Amino acid sequence: MTEADIPALVQARYGTTTNTVATGGVDGGGITTLGTLLQHRSVRHFLPEKIPKGNLEIIIAAAQSAATSSNLQTWSVVALEDPEHKDKAATLCGDQDFIRQAPLFLIFCADLNRLTKVSAQHGLRGEGLEFTEMFLMASLDAGLAGQNATVAAEALGLGACYVGAARNKPHELAKLLKLPSRVIAVFGVAIGKPDPTKVTAVKPRLPQKEVLHKETWNSDAKEGGAETQTGNLAEYDVTLASFNAGERREGVPAWTQRSARRIETVESLHGRHVLKDVLQQKGFNLK
Ligand SMILES: Cc1cc2nc3c(=O)[nH]c(=O)nc-3n(C[C@H](O)[C@H](O)[C@H](O)COP(=O)(O)O)c2cc1C
Repeated sequence: MTEADIPALVQARYGTTTNTVATGGVDGGGITTLGTLLQHRSVRHFLPEKIPKGNLEIIIAAAQSAATSSNLQTWSVVALEDPEHKDKAATLCGDQDFIRQAPLFLIFCADLNRLTKVSAQHGLRGEGLEFTEMFLMASLDAGLAGQNATVAAEALGLGACYVGAARNKPHELAKLLKLPSRVIAVFGVAIGKPDPTKVTAVKPRLPQKEVLHKETWNSDAKEGGAETQTGNLAEYDVTLASFNAGERREGVPAWTQRSARRIETVESLHGRHVLKDVLQQKGFNLK
């Protein structure tokens, strides 16, 4: 990987070969990191091998290296390697087989239990823990840690796939993992050695101009009407259709349609609509 490879990797991220995003200013040190980030793809096919001894510890150290609000470190992670235990977790997490296949399944949790104890230790009320803000903080901290873990795994030559389905049956998963009060699974990450016969291409993202706003939000008026966004999304529908065709994924609806369906009904939340109640039961008060 050299500096010269970066522009092509950036274009690939948008599914284009032409220079739609002007990159520059890359000099030396961060090239390997950028290469890892830009070549990310979810891996859902793993070799039946354990990950090398010591990799779990590196991955978790990387996760703990993420920034964390006020250094409060309001997250914890449960590592599942035992096949039977992982099988039960997989069943609760949308019954996704790649979780069973992966030798390591990390479940990242928002953890306000630790700070509850810290408050008690100092005879303080811990009133702040009862607000939505703290749950959001803990979820953000867990997300940042999970992303560092994922990037670390990828840097080690492993593959990973996030599992939001860890919230499909939050109560049951909490029971399986024996999570204490004020600890809840936010997402999982399945990790293992990628099966080299089933490598997928990099999945293009929305055009950068659709997500990047400079100085202020690109209002419709400023950008010449609602057609700008409609045009960006139509462009992405075409780009992603071409990606899906390349991956031989037939009959996948356009991104706009698929996304609209994903949020169409309560059922499309796959059980996650109970999350607020489960959070209350687990001691997150969400005032
Ligand atoms: C929080 C989160 C939860 C996810 N949950 C799942 C999941 O349960 N099952 C799955 O197959 N992929 C899951 N994914 C992976 C996304 O589908 C994937 O990242 C997205 O389609 C983009 O593809 P890429 O990661 O290959 O670039 C999840 C990703 C994130 C960030």
